[in-house]
Amino acid sequence: MSAPRGEFSSRFGFLMAASGSAVGLGNIWGFPTNAASNGGAAFLFVYLLLAFALAYPALMAELIIGRRAQANGITALRSISSGKKSRIAASVVGFSGIITVSLILSFYSIVSGWMIAHFFDAMAQIFGISTVSNWLTTDHPVRNSIFVVMFMTLTVFIISAGVRNGIEKWASRLMPSLIAILILLIVYVFTLPGAGDGLRAYLVPDFSRLTEPALLVGAMGQAFFSLSLGVGTMLIYGSYISKDENLPVTGGLVALLDIGIAVLAGLLILPAMYAALANGVEIFDVNGQLIAGPGLIVSVLPSLFETMGSIGIFVSLAFFLLMAIASLTSSISMLEVPVAYGVEHHGIDRKKASIAVGVVVTVISLMIVFNFDPLFDMVVTFTTEFSQPLLGFAFCIFVAWIWRRNDILLEIKQGCPDAESGFFWKIWPFYVKFICPVAILTVYFQ
Ligand code: TRP
Repeated sequence: MSAPRGEFSSRFGFLMAASGSAVGLGNIWGFPTNAASNGGAAFLFVYLLLAFALAYPALMAELIIGRRAQANGITALRSISSGKKSRIAASVVGFSGIITVSLILSFYSIVSGWMIAHFFDAMAQIFGISTVSNWLTTDHPVRNSIFVVMFMTLTVFIISAGVRNGIEKWASRLMPSLIAILILLIVYVFTLPGAGDGLRAYLVPDFSRLTEPALLVGAMGQAFFSLSLGVGTMLIYGSYISKDENLPVTGGLVALLDIGIAVLAGLLILPAMYAALANGVEIFDVNGQLIAGPGLIVSVLPSLFETMGSIGIFVSLAFFLLMAIASLTSSISMLEVPVAYGVEHHGIDRKKASIAVGVVVTVISLMIVFNFDPLFDMVVTFTTEFSQPLLGFAFCIFVAWIWRRNDILLEIKQGCPDAESGFFWKIWPFYVKFICPVAILTVYFQ
């Protein structure tokens, strides 16, 4: 009998989809520079600790609720709530998740559009039509609008095809390519002069930084954004996992893949930045910090590629393809949250729902594109620093304080029959009940 809802066909399919969601712009431009500016391997160490001790338990909370409820975020949270008040709270949290993730997608698609524009620039250079190069690489509302629309069209195309034929199929093709491109680029960049200095900046620990609150806050925010937590993305992917899967192990693999790829990205970005420095490119900002975020991707690295001669064009092509893939496998996971709600709750046809939500998000993106200075930073800060941690906190409260402990255990036991005596069940409930909420709030008020 075929499942009435979508379901991933295999563990591999789920792993590619979920790690595709997790691995995105956050891993490639956030993690490496964060690490290098905050004590190198000392940051790495704290990040690993926080990712496993805090982000992994929160990830498990979402996966377990999702698979239990077999439904979108709102329906799922309502189904584990027994009282009237908690059901109202469930709707508020679920709905806020939908709005937050749609707003995250609206700025994410702008940045992803830049990646595609730079990818086209490399293509144009390969085909010798460098006249368009200037247009493609200059930040301009018209260029940005065109590429936002292009990127959102791709995202809608994949999501409208459904869980197996869209998400799983594309993630299973794109993620292995992403890993292959990443490794090839690392190997190449290691041969460049200056790469060794980058490696040192990344991997030599400065343990004196470990006590700084900024380091902890940075590492925790990074871990939550990177694992796509708090807005129902992992919940909805969890709802498509087969009941035969061992959830603690599968969730652990997703966390490992995400962290592993972030660490690998560091091996590419920092050696590349220091190689750029060796070629006379400025890599520090006015405060002496490494240039991070968009500036790193659309200005520092392209300057490095330019100094490499003709091979630089191919390196640039590979790099922006990598970024575009990372963005697309993340953006589809964002769009799936509101679309699943529309399909399940309002009975809208999947294709229509994907197009409708896609159009709304695109319109918001275009509003940001044309009012970039006041809006862009505001939307980023509101969603990632304000809304996402609060919602992550709310998810932990729902699982640990509202949902019945026995129900949780029953769900985990499906696919993992001896869960009760296992290590996971010994410590995870305590973590989501006490450690995660307190840690999230502490970092939040920092
Ligand atoms: N985790 C992705 C990244 O690192 C971004 C992402 C995908 C995301 N889905 C999300 C972030 C949901 C927050 C919420 O780039």
